[in-house]
Amino acid sequence: MNAPRFPVPLSPPVLLAPMSGITDLPFRQVVAEFGAGLLVSEMIASGEMVTRKRSPRASTRARARIGAGPPTAVQLAGREASAMAEAARIAEGEGAPMIDINMGCPAKKVVGGLSGSALMRDLDLALRLIDAVVGAVKVPVSLKTRLGWDVECLNAPELAARAVEAGVAMITIHARTRAQFYTGRADWAAVQAVRAAVAVPVIVNGDILDAACARRALALSGAHGVMVGRGAQGRPWLLAQISAALYGTPAPQVPQGAALADLVARHYEAMLGFYGRDLGLRIARKHLGWYIDAAGGPPDLRARLMREGDPAQVLAQLPDALTRQEAAA
Ligand SMILES: Cc1cc2nc3c(=O)[nH]c(=O)nc-3n(C[C@H](O)[C@H](O)[C@H](O)COP(=O)(O)O)c2cc1C
Repeated sequence: MNAPRFPVPLSPPVLLAPMSGITDLPFRQVVAEFGAGLLVSEMIASGEMVTRKRSPRASTRARARIGAGPPTAVQLAGREASAMAEAARIAEGEGAPMIDINMGCPAKKVVGGLSGSALMRDLDLALRLIDAVVGAVKVPVSLKTRLGWDVECLNAPELAARAVEAGVAMITIHARTRAQFYTGRADWAAVQAVRAAVAVPVIVNGDILDAACARRALALSGAHGVMVGRGAQGRPWLLAQISAALYGTPAPQVPQGAALADLVARHYEAMLGFYGRDLGLRIARKHLGWYIDAAGGPPDLRARLMREGDPAQVLAQLPDALTRQEAAA
């Protein structure tokens, strides 16, 4: 069987996962510098997008902003067909080349509102939302979901088949159930049932931390591409490394020493610019922590930077913080 075509060109099919509070525009831009097939925005509540409500972090419109580099799908969540359709139209109007529908988020806030993965328990409502979004835009629509609600209800293949019949052009599966939240291990082989149920590209997601994981996830699932989330925290070059190992794209130069400090400084300043100084300082801390952990930097300096309230001080100490501990001693 010929491989199905991707709805937007993905060169190569190594995708950055949507992660609320993490894959904002500044982080997506850093990942884009190294390369990725597709970036996905953080989940955006369709109702908030339509009413232009400001979240405490950044306006919903700002969260959906498309940057330079690889295509960025805008991910929408919600339970009202009209708001989903309107939010999809807004995102398309602002340049999104693809709309992704979130039917995988296990968070109580989202599930309690009967969206995210809760929609796996009400496929008729899920289909009404999908129909509304597909009917509202000309750009392709993808769906991100989990294997099912729990082991008793592994209905991703049924949801995927019905979604594709309704016009969805790509399916991403986080290979866990909702009941698992983030516990246990992603069951890549279980994605095969989804792959067998649809003729559009299927992307496997969950616990892909390096090229060996990506290769194994593809082999076990039969999927057409991989999506990487937490593995890229503090390692924005990971997608490019996976692409190089699996698809022969040029291997990224993994920055070290002064080059790493420059990269983190640029990311840091972009976060302060995007969120404003005070909020930016707080949001930047988790990224700094991940970079320092990945670099093996000194824990005492890490702890100090997590408390530091002056951005100039943070920037000044980055080179030491990002130097492997034994070298710094
Ligand atoms: C902090 C956090 C936020 C997340 N936010 C979203 C989201 O907004 N939309 C979504 O579809 N999935 C979200 N996810 C799930 C990820 O996209 C991904 O499916 C999951 O983390 C498994 O992939 P990984 O093991 O590569 O991280 C989030 C995950 C984390 C850890």
